Amino acid sequence: MPESNSKKPYIAAVSGSMRETSSNTRVLLAATSLLQGAYDIRLSDHIQTLPPFNPDSDHDHSQAPLPVKQWRQFIAEASAVMICTPEYAAGIPGSLKNALDWLVSSGEFVNKPTAAISASPGQGGGSIALASLAGTLRIMTATLPDNCTHSIAFVSKKLTATGVDPETETELQQLATNLSKLTTTA
Ligand SMILES: Cc1cc2nc3c(=O)[nH]c(=O)nc-3n(C[C@H](O)[C@H](O)[C@H](O)COP(=O)(O)O)c2cc1C
Repeated sequence: MPESNSKKPYIAAVSGSMRETSSNTRVLLAATSLLQGAYDIRLSDHIQTLPPFNPDSDHDHSQAPLPVKQWRQFIAEASAVMICTPEYAAGIPGSLKNALDWLVSSGEFVNKPTAAISASPGQGGGSIALASLAGTLRIMTATLPDNCTHSIAFVSKKLTATGVDPETETELQQLATNLSKLTTTA
């Protein structure tokens, strides 16, 4: 994660894909850039460093592994969280689920304004993964209204050299606006 000394409020941007040229990361950056100005945008790389979740290591949070502490702090201090994920085998990637599992007992998502996006090269748009992600976030009591969820089908055709095509940008702008309204009323 690029560190910042800025005290400006930030959006935690979390990609469910670890691929260097991930379409989901590109969508995520396009969506969060629409909030830039009011917020810093901080792109998470935490899911790559987290150990596999083990409830035995989850009793005393002060003794949690350092990457877990850093991940918890990153989400806790964010004004809002935006997650964009691919769908793997009709679910969310295991690494993203692992990262979320580390936050269940510590509660960083409680009432956290959150947006969830899925993007897929296929016609389903990763909507099964999106539903699963939304279910997990809502059980963690994140603030995730339906108008802060969005799935993008045929994503490879919608990416451009600088971001996304105009139609997708309009959709992401609506989502970003909906998310920012949650942060002002939270
Ligand atoms: C193991 C694996 C399973 C996948 N399963 C699905 C799936 O169930 N549904 C889907 O729409 N795409 C599936 N895909 C295709 C991904 O959506 C595609 O690879 C996507 O580009 C990954 O996102 P990324 O570009 O952000 O890494 C799968 C890909 C992999 C590698």
